[in-house]
Amino acid sequence: MRKKVIAGNWKMNYNFHQSIAFIEKLKEEVLKKERNCDIIICPNFIALSEAKKIIKDTTIKLGAQNIYYEDSGAFTGETSADMIKSVGCEFVILGHSERRTIFKESDELINKKIKQALKHGLHPIFCIGETLEEREKGITNNIVERQLELGLSNVTPEELLKIIIAYEPVWAIGTGKNATPEQAQEVHSFIRNYLNVEYGLVVADKIIIQYGGSVKPENAKDLLSQPDIDGALVGGACLKVDSFIGIIESC
Ligand code: PGA
Repeated sequence: MRKKVIAGNWKMNYNFHQSIAFIEKLKEEVLKKERNCDIIICPNFIALSEAKKIIKDTTIKLGAQNIYYEDSGAFTGETSADMIKSVGCEFVILGHSERRTIFKESDELINKKIKQALKHGLHPIFCIGETLEEREKGITNNIVERQLELGLSNVTPEELLKIIIAYEPVWAIGTGKNATPEQAQEVHSFIRNYLNVEYGLVVADKIIIQYGGSVKPENAKDLLSQPDIDGALVGGACLKVDSFIGIIESC
C-alpha cells in the first residue's frame, strides 16, 4: 500500500517574512493530529533555510522548485543541487509546465536536472502532462509517454524509486478546472503500466504518482481515492493554511 504524498508548490508567492509566518501557522495546524500522509512544502529559495529550522522537529519535508544541472560555476542566477541540499531540502520540483512553457525547458534539460538531483541524493518531483490542445487531439498518452521516456532517459530502476511522478494536465493548472477523478485515473494507470513495462512490476507498484491541477479540499477526496493516484501536487490551494490542511485531511 502506497502512502499518500501531498506537496505544496508555492510558486513565486510570499516574501521571506510572509513565508515564515505561513510555515509557523502550517506547522501548528499539522501538529494538531497524527497525519496519515507525507507532507512536503516547496517555498521560494529565499525561505528554504529558515523554513527548515521551523519544521525540523516535524514530519513536514522540504523541497525546492528548481535547480540547475551543473555542480557549480559561472551560471548567474542559478541554484545547484548541493546548495538546496545544504539547507535541508530533500525534494525538488522538475519539469513543471510553467518551466517548460515560460522558461522553455526541454525534455533533455529536464533529464539533466533529474540526473543531477539524483546524483546529490535529492528526490525529484517530476512533472508531466498534456495541453488542452493535445488532449482534444486524443494524444494525451503519447505526450505523457514521450515526456517519461525523455525525462527518465538513463535513469535506473533504483533511481526511479527515488522519484515522484506528478501528472499535471496543463489545462488544469491554475484554472480551477481539475481533471475528473476518472480522467486522472486513466492517465495515472497508463503511466504505471508504462513504468511496469520499462522498469518492472516492483518499481511500478511502489512509485508515487501524484495528481496536480486545481486540487482543492472539495475535490481532493475523490481524486485521492482513485487506485493509481498516490497524492497531490498543489499550487493555489497550498497558499492558504486551511485549504492545504483540508487536502491533507482528505487522505
Ligand atoms: P494549481 O497548481 O493547484 O494552482 O492548479 C498546481 C501546480 O502547478 O503544481
